[in-house]
Amino acid sequence: MTTASKTEDVKKELNQLAQGVTSTRQLMSEIVELLHERMLKYNWVGFYMLEPESRGQGPVLVLGPFSGAMTPHTRIPLNQGICGAAASSGQTVVVDDVGKDNRYLACSIETKSEIVVPVFVRGKVVGELDIDSHFPAAFKDEDRALVEYCAALVGRSLEKSPA
Ligand code: SME
Repeated sequence: MTTASKTEDVKKELNQLAQGVTSTRQLMSEIVELLHERMLKYNWVGFYMLEPESRGQGPVLVLGPFSGAMTPHTRIPLNQGICGAAASSGQTVVVDDVGKDNRYLACSIETKSEIVVPVFVRGKVVGELDIDSHFPAAFKDEDRALVEYCAALVGRSLEKSPA
């Protein structure tokens, strides 16, 4: 199966599961499990949600539902990491070789590439979907489209009913 037809199949599964969930949190949990299971190069899949002005500090990204090994990075300020870069710019960030990106916060020594896609609610970043791969340059155009599709599903769900 080509990667493009695989991502199309996974999108159909996503649409089905989006219809069966009763909360955005459940949708997020189902998305991380599905992507981790079906996309073989997606070795860690997780959401971070933006907590505004937490504990007297600036806004911080807080680890949400994830699938994969526990990460040391459970709270990430917006000026740190690939995660901070995606949330503060409101842009998808794809890093083909994390060893060459000095923004990178290491989660596992096996990670070689990463994609982070912001989640928007009414045009504002409220979180993001972060995926790590043990393979270099794992995230091609069709992967980016798939991950952006997932982030948009969550954004739409939050617009309908918060959390
Ligand atoms: N690598 C991320 C940190 C999160 S872990 O990958 C789960 C970053 O550089 O922001």
